[in-house]
Parts: sequence; structure tokens; C-alpha cells
Amino acid sequence: MDSFELSKITGAMLAALLLIVGSNVIIDAITATPAGQPLAGYALPTATAEAAGEAAPVAATVDQTAAAPAAPGAGPAAGKEAAAPAAAPAAAGFDAKAVVAMLASAKADEGAAIFKKCASCHVVKKDAPSSVGPNLWGVVNRPKAAQSDFAAKYSEALKAKGGGWTYENLALFLHQPKGYIAGTKMVFAGIKDPNEIAQIIAYLRTLADAPAPLPN
Ligand code: HEC
Repeated sequence: MDSFELSKITGAMLAALLLIVGSNVIIDAITATPAGQPLAGYALPTATAEAAGEAAPVAATVDQTAAAPAAPGAGPAAGKEAAAPAAAPAAAGFDAKAVVAMLASAKADEGAAIFKKCASCHVVKKDAPSSVGPNLWGVVNRPKAAQSDFAAKYSEALKAKGGGWTYENLALFLHQPKGYIAGTKMVFAGIKDPNEIAQIIAYLRTLADAPAPLPN
């Protein structure tokens, strides 16, 4: 075999190799096999970005990670913005008196279960020290901002609101804390379902030596 023939064979082998590699790239580009995907994903920044649909999932992943750090930062501000425009229509559509009318038949034990939402911030045991929020033992008909061991922590807004925690005031506050008392320190979005609000208030009512009378 002379060298000319040898180089022909080498050339043929190289051509075959190129064909195999080339068709693999094409197959990878067309088919998104599970094995092919991560490879295609990693290869993306260099060569085959526009090769196929693989670009889309990777782009989506990048979007998500880009959005994730932004979300917590934007969170509180965005939350306030969202709450403010919503406040007027939601408050207008919310009937606190209807909630009060539901109290007589509302189930306090259901309210106790829902109160888990509040328990991260509020203790309800008589004489127990307040935590993030004031102790809510006996809160029904208690003057606002009157839990003594929480006196230094109440917001000016709540202190300025005045009056006692009537059933109706509680319904308004629990429906939308910042809608009822703009500037409250209670970081809680509120409860939409009037039924749930009635159940929680029915539960709060039981937290007293002498529960307040139910409305007729
Ligand atoms: C993230 C913590 C947090 C959660 C959750 C929370 N609260 Fe509060 N709550 C507070 C804080 C803080 C205050 C004091 C607000 C202020 O000073 O403006 C407060 C105040 C109150 C008051 C007024 C008490 C007073 O002495 O005037 C009531 C009533 C109340 N919360 C009920 C609830 C109920 C019911 C829930 C659950 C549906 C709830 N809160 C969920 C933190 C919380």
C-alpha cells in the first residue's frame, strides 16, 4: 500500500467521522432526548444556541433565576402597591355587618383551626406574654391598642384609631388590616372569605372569662 492510497483511506475515515459527528449534532438539535438535553443545555452558551427548541427551556430557567432575586426585594413594595389599589374596591365590596350577622351560627372550633394563620404572631393564653403581636386573650370589645405589655410596640396608626374591638371593627380589620388601619404594623394580607372571618371572630370571642354576648 503506497502513501497515496493510505491518505485516501485516512481521508475516507475522516469524512466518515465528520459525518457521524455532524449527524449527531443534527440529531441532538432535532430530538430532545432526555440524555441529549443537559448536553444541549450546557453547550448553549458556545455554539448551538439557535440550533433547536432546547434554547427555550434554558432561557426560561435563566428568566426564573433572574426573577427570583428580584422578587423578594420587590416583594414588600409590590405588595403595598397591589394592596393599595385593591383596597378601595375590596373594602367597598366587603360587608362587615353581614359577617357580624353570621357570628351566631359561626363555628368557633373552625375558627380555632384557621387561627393557625395568626398563631405565628399572636398568643391567646390568658396572661401569657405578647410575642410578635399583642396577646389576643379577651380582645373582643377591648379598647384598641390596650394590651399592656405591648404598649411600647403598637403602631401610632393603631393607637390613633380609637374605640374598642367591636365585632364589626374586627371583621373590617381581619378582612384587610391595612385597608382598615393604614400604617398598622400587622403584616397580614387579610382574609377574603367572610365565612372564615366570622369563624375566627367566633373563636376570639371564646377567649375570655366572660365571652361578649353574640349579636342578635
Ligand atoms: C405577621 C404577624 C401577624 C400575623 C400573622 C397576625 N397578626 Fe395580628 N397583629 C400583629 C401586630 C404586630 C399587631 C399590632 C399592630 C399595630 O400595632 O399596628 C397586631 C394586632 C392585632 C390586633 C389588634 C389587637 C389590639 O390589642 O389592639 C388584632 C385583633 C389582631 N392582630 C388579630 C389577628 C388575627 C385574628 C390574625 C390572624 C387572622 C392576625 N392578627 C395575624 C401581628 C400579626
